[in-house]
Amino acid sequence: MEIRRVAASIGAEISDVAICDTGSLDLAALRQAWLDHGVLLFRGQYMTPTALAHFSACFGELEPPPASEAGTREELGGQPVWYISNVVENGKQIGSLGAGEAEWHTDMSYIAEPPTASVLFAQEVPPSGGNTSFSDMEAALDRLDDDLRAQIEGRSVHHDSSTTSVGDTRRGYDGVQDVRTAPGISHPAVRTHPETGRRSLYLGRRRNTYIEGLDLAESEALLDRLWEHCRNPDFAWTHVWQAGDVVMWDNRRMIHRRDPFDPNSRRIMLRTQLRGDRPS
Ligand SMILES: [Fe+2]
Repeated sequence: MEIRRVAASIGAEISDVAICDTGSLDLAALRQAWLDHGVLLFRGQYMTPTALAHFSACFGELEPPPASEAGTREELGGQPVWYISNVVENGKQIGSLGAGEAEWHTDMSYIAEPPTASVLFAQEVPPSGGNTSFSDMEAALDRLDDDLRAQIEGRSVHHDSSTTSVGDTRRGYDGVQDVRTAPGISHPAVRTHPETGRRSLYLGRRRNTYIEGLDLAESEALLDRLWEHCRNPDFAWTHVWQAGDVVMWDNRRMIHRRDPFDPNSRRIMLRTQLRGDRPS
């Protein structure tokens, strides 16, 4: 097994491993690499849904698909694996998120115990577009200017549960009229990683968030400034997918986004996630 950095501060490619053969893996070394680099890339993998579930489960307890993915459960035989895809079969989307841009976000920060890790396997990728970028919110906090830091330390951010990262309203929700009363949950704006002890910004996503205790206009202005900082490419790494890639990232530390792609091309990703705990 070889570990090679792919960007200045985040991301590592792990080569010379077949991760479907979980018995052959040095799990302690992989876990340490994941904690050190925030996101791991394995190229040239052959993964069935079952194999992806087995590999993911080496790092924690798997979560079942969120309710919004319920339509894809049947064909996966009830396994805790689901599709992210724009492909329509028999008149029905086989997965979620379509072909549009997914804004910067951390996965499912709108629940009490957001997932620690997310894992994606690229089964089919479009000829161009659909790249996924990751950004390090530990570096973002380290480089935050004192004025912004003073304004956000000790604050909580309310995370909206009604809207997806591509801006769609989830099934069973109405659109958000006032971010102060959006459905969801609040978490500390700055969190401490439970395994590494390092601190990071934890803002979820820009859309429909609200900083508790501030006037709406103050919250909007502060969030705009914070997000402008978080989008600094210095903290980021962009992954250009190939079929056979597996990427696993740490949601406690990283945010990610996806470029749009041609909706007439096909992109099929298998997805798992690991159960988390309450950010503190
Ligand atoms: Fe995501």
